[in-house]
Amino acid sequence: MAIMKILTYPEPILSRPCREIVSVERPLIELAESMAETMYAAPGIGLAAPQVGVDQRLVVIDVKRDEERGNPIFLFNPRIVAMSGETVYEEGCLSVPDLVADVTRAARVVVEAWDREGNPLTIDADGLLAICLQHELDHLEGRLFLDKVSPLKRALYKKRRLKQLKKDEA
Ligand code: NI
Repeated sequence: MAIMKILTYPEPILSRPCREIVSVERPLIELAESMAETMYAAPGIGLAAPQVGVDQRLVVIDVKRDEERGNPIFLFNPRIVAMSGETVYEEGCLSVPDLVADVTRAARVVVEAWDREGNPLTIDADGLLAICLQHELDHLEGRLFLDKVSPLKRALYKKRRLKQLKKDEA
């Protein structure tokens, strides 16, 4: 396992839908373990494969706090099969540095996926887990939370980000 580099906006892989996983094999589980280590080190509550430059439908999540952390959920080929209600939460993203913004999402989601043994898994979630699932699954479609903020906020962020990147290059 190793901590991986987290790619940031506007890396093109962050804006493209990811490929389906054919089967859960050892290298993919090792990748998920490295992603979990990267998520804890960041620290963050979720990480999707494209954020570490991998074009696969895989996310790792741990929304627990402090000493309860350390049992990440691995989801292979996750998809939302039901959603209901509405909630607003101030989100951030490891791939969108220096931005937090209110995002409206479903309050409850049901997600189906494969677990690390390749067995089907269903998660019925509300609260922070429901928000995190939607945020991470968006990554697999090439969508960032930045796409869900107001057009003005998005435009200002893009401008600020490109300026910062230019400065970093100089
Ligand atoms: Ni994110």
